[in-house]
Amino acid sequence: MANKVLIKNANQIVTCSGNKQKKGKDMKELHVITDASIIIHDNIIKKVGKTNDILKNIKEKDYKVINAKDKCITPGFIDSHTHLVFGGYRADEYNMRLAGASYMEIMKQGGGIQSTTNATKKASLDELVESGLKRLDSMVSFGVTSVESKSGYGLDLDTEIKQLKAMKRLDEIHPMDISKTFLGAHAVPPEYKGRADEFIDFIIETVLPEVTNNNLAEFCDVFCEKNVFSVEESRKLLKAAQKLGLKSKLHADEIVRIGGAELAAEIGAISADHLLRASDEGIKLMAKEDVVATLLPGTAFSLKEEYARARYIIDSGCAVALATDMNPGSCFTESIPLIIALATLYMNMSIEETINALTINAAAAIDRAKEIGSIDEGKKADILIHEFPTYNYIPYHIGVSTVEKVIKDGKVIFDKNKDEAYA
Ligand code: NIG
Ligand code: FE
Repeated sequence: MANKVLIKNANQIVTCSGNKQKKGKDMKELHVITDASIIIHDNIIKKVGKTNDILKNIKEKDYKVINAKDKCITPGFIDSHTHLVFGGYRADEYNMRLAGASYMEIMKQGGGIQSTTNATKKASLDELVESGLKRLDSMVSFGVTSVESKSGYGLDLDTEIKQLKAMKRLDEIHPMDISKTFLGAHAVPPEYKGRADEFIDFIIETVLPEVTNNNLAEFCDVFCEKNVFSVEESRKLLKAAQKLGLKSKLHADEIVRIGGAELAAEIGAISADHLLRASDEGIKLMAKEDVVATLLPGTAFSLKEEYARARYIIDSGCAVALATDMNPGSCFTESIPLIIALATLYMNMSIEETINALTINAAAAIDRAKEIGSIDEGKKADILIHEFPTYNYIPYHIGVSTVEKVIKDGKVIFDKNKDEAYA
């Protein structure tokens, strides 16, 4: 029998309606329905509208009913940039940074990404899955229903593949949907020191075919940064990956402005991420080419860097997505409430822009805007019930999650008021 669910009597349903990225001024529009209800059949949204209209046409007894009186409903949040599968931790580096060391200094001394790479090499596939599961559960508690996850802590054939296989397993056993990104060019490993170009060739010739032949990733990403991979090296890798069917993403202009945003536009990337130092020209080109600007304020906060110029980027007509960048180094957090606080208080994004950036635009940043990211008929039933009556409360409860229930694929997978999630 079909799983039929009625969510009724919501004070507000914030639909974020649409099936593509919302650019510039369009990010202000949330498409709110008041006194509203939703019907779900199996894992799909069948109908959304005014409670009166919805209830007129159905027999309530045929449905599992969730009463959302005095609540606000939004689409599930999508965390479109994370590094959630890794071995070991780097709490010591947090301390070093508090004492004044910079992220790049720590990386040059063999810490940073290399340190996590060493630990990830040692971890078994099962260990990576086990720690990944805990992080996914934590994400769900903040209302995340889909997540993007990158490799990049292998920097060799076997470990990159092991990370991607761990993600595949996680996707199979956890309700969360995981979009997989190959980030083999995340750092230059010690054996290739001073030979980043040769490392890129190694990835293109040896690792990339293994990834695509086994269908282990949808995207290819690269850390396009001064003293890591140049624009030329990044272009070469991403184009080779495109030929094998992988869509492009970039860590672009995070620490030094080297033209990452321009490259993203040139090669038709799905998203360019970080962008703390992106040029005006680069941003305008991204707007023109529909490249989503994925901003990661948690990382700027944690590294005590200036925030990306969200206002300028939106006012230039770009689509902005927000994500945690959850990783063991530059930003160890799954906290969506932290991201919401930083976006609204320090990046001057409005509440409406912030919610679109975590839903429909985040869906666009993983090329899924036709299936998720909004409460529209025919989309996946990935839905949050918040414990307050309007969306204004979401940032107002600073640093605290307002999410009361998480509905994923039509099933309740998190309930704040119950000890255990139920299906
Ligand atoms: O997005 N910038 C490069 N990569 C990650 C950090 C990874 C790490 O430090 O482990 C980032 O910030
Ligand atoms: Fe990242």
